[in-house]
Amino acid sequence: MKEPLSMIKYFPELELVKDEALRQKVDEIWNDLWQESAFQRLEDLPVIPGMDYPHVRHNRSVLHHVMAAADNLEEFHGVKLDRDILICSVLLQDASKLVEFEPAPGGVHMSEKGRQFQHGFFGAAAAMKAGMPMEIVRNIITHTIDNPVYPPTVYSKIIFYADQIDMAGLKADTWQKKGVIFRDSPYE
Ligand SMILES: [Fe+2]
Repeated sequence: MKEPLSMIKYFPELELVKDEALRQKVDEIWNDLWQESAFQRLEDLPVIPGMDYPHVRHNRSVLHHVMAAADNLEEFHGVKLDRDILICSVLLQDASKLVEFEPAPGGVHMSEKGRQFQHGFFGAAAAMKAGMPMEIVRNIITHTIDNPVYPPTVYSKIIFYADQIDMAGLKADTWQKKGVIFRDSPYE
């Protein structure tokens, strides 16, 4: 068994989650996937295979974009969003990378699991198993363009766009409109 990850060390924003049970579940989900992961150091997990840039820095940056957007919506429009839902969703959206990617000679590759399932699947499945609110599970699965359903709620849209903003900042965004299947959401 590997040394458990200290979530607060890597993601100090977890402290901002007010609901202790949710905070605990984020920690457990990451640590469960960490034990399954082939990585030995979280610092070696990249944003994507072939890109030598640390995932944790990207993930934290996305969270800060998301929180800024939530602040702006509240200040300018009086739209109040549940910050616990937002923070937990963003901190879990990419936890699946721990098992989707694996170290390999010459760099990080997609694992068998990563090739078999869409990005985010294993994080969403773990969140569902842990009893996370369905809004969080949905935000995880819809945060990626891999998912055929367009993000249906203000929460999921903020996360989806913030993620892509960050990837654009890293010159690594992969948006192609032709890759999106537009149809009525089954979630509403
Ligand atoms: Fe992602």
